[in-house]
Amino acid sequence: MTSKIQTLRILLSIGLVVTCRFAEAHDGHTPIAVKPAEVYKPSAIPDRVVLTWKSDPRTTQSVTWRTNTEVQHGYAQITAAPDGPIDLKQVLQAEAKTQKLTTDINEAHFHSADFVDLKPDAKYAYRVGDGVNWSEWFHFKTAPAKQEPFSFIYFGDAQNDIKSQWSRVIREAYSDAPKARFMLHAGDLINRAEADAEWGEWFHAGSFLHATLSCVAVPGNHEQAKAEDGTRRLSHHWRPQFAFPEDGPVGLEETCYTFEYLNMRIIALNSNEKIEEQAKWLNSVLAKNKSPWVVCTFHHPVFSTAKDRDNAALRQTWKPILDTYRVDLVLQGHDHTYGRTGLETPSMLPETVGNVSSGENQVDRTTGTVYVVSVSGPKMYNLQPSSVMKRVAEDTQLYQIIHVDGDNLRYEAKTAAGNLYDAFTLRKQVGKINELIEGSDLMEPRVRPVITTKEAIGSGVVK
Ligand SMILES: [Fe+2]
Repeated sequence: MTSKIQTLRILLSIGLVVTCRFAEAHDGHTPIAVKPAEVYKPSAIPDRVVLTWKSDPRTTQSVTWRTNTEVQHGYAQITAAPDGPIDLKQVLQAEAKTQKLTTDINEAHFHSADFVDLKPDAKYAYRVGDGVNWSEWFHFKTAPAKQEPFSFIYFGDAQNDIKSQWSRVIREAYSDAPKARFMLHAGDLINRAEADAEWGEWFHAGSFLHATLSCVAVPGNHEQAKAEDGTRRLSHHWRPQFAFPEDGPVGLEETCYTFEYLNMRIIALNSNEKIEEQAKWLNSVLAKNKSPWVVCTFHHPVFSTAKDRDNAALRQTWKPILDTYRVDLVLQGHDHTYGRTGLETPSMLPETVGNVSSGENQVDRTTGTVYVVSVSGPKMYNLQPSSVMKRVAEDTQLYQIIHVDGDNLRYEAKTAAGNLYDAFTLRKQVGKINELIEGSDLMEPRVRPVITTKEAIGSGVVK
């Protein structure tokens, strides 16, 4: 018996008439969801290929990938990217370190290889495999030795519907800034720390982009899993699948680290644990820093943008250090809304700020640091009104492109559809805090209308 076909005409809101054919389930033709264990089953063919730095981006590059456990040895081959076909006689090969990861749905080997002694500002082609089963050749470029303008991309939480809906954000970001030098993820890349299928979705969404642009990431609370003793610890996936620096406090390897890219120091902090230890380390890193630009990234925001959220401990412990060293930009996530401060953020707790808004104390309020909270995935929270935020958004998936050109830093936040939502330029000034020049030609604010309780009856929206 043939299945019955219904033809429906659907009028979409944009006025487009689409004819759809829906197959009714009959006689064993019911679609069946493919199980995650099958979708994300590792094979001898490399997948989940991701570039990172463990040290100097001018001369090193690390790559990590996954196979099944039958692959005992992994190799990474590299050559100067040729203008024509790859000449295998010109290829150098590094052997990877291999470690086994047992997940909720499979067992896999994760392989990690380091390319060293590379030339600065050079394009390389590389592939990974077991000697027989290889990935395609990917390209990457090392950081230049001399100053030149560069860009990078920043994402807030991806976390939910990663394959289905975060994919369009990372792909839109790449199409907007294909020459960006790295992609920075401020935590909550996935929702369930030990769910291998979610990590599979993250790699699927980014696909070859993860293998082409270096990844910089910090863990959010969703990369923390519950241990048997009830405490929370880093996902078992994190360290096998990323190769980040190990220069942070003991116990926070690859989650708290720093590196320099041209004239910018990036400081990645793990806001889930050991806050006091990281404060001491942060202070020592900033005391030694010689880079004109300093960007810090961590997951939990110093100034929350979501309703009924606050991270007072971070504000008390880390913010005074950020203030002292006049860190330029702090990139955060966690609140599933958007918020961006000006230069004037309270240099003390908000509950005591009310008395210091004028006169000499005004100086105390001008810290020169811009704080950003953003979200790239589709999970959305209610906004919390805040006097420190210059620009906010609800119900908006965003990516940010940050351009650094000498003494100028241009920041652009764009929506999932690629529209400019927020923009500003920071300009270095000798002996003063940065000048902040607000951007123009921005979209209308995307904030839900304020509805009183009485009006909200029936709508379910109350602020
Ligand atoms: Fe979070």
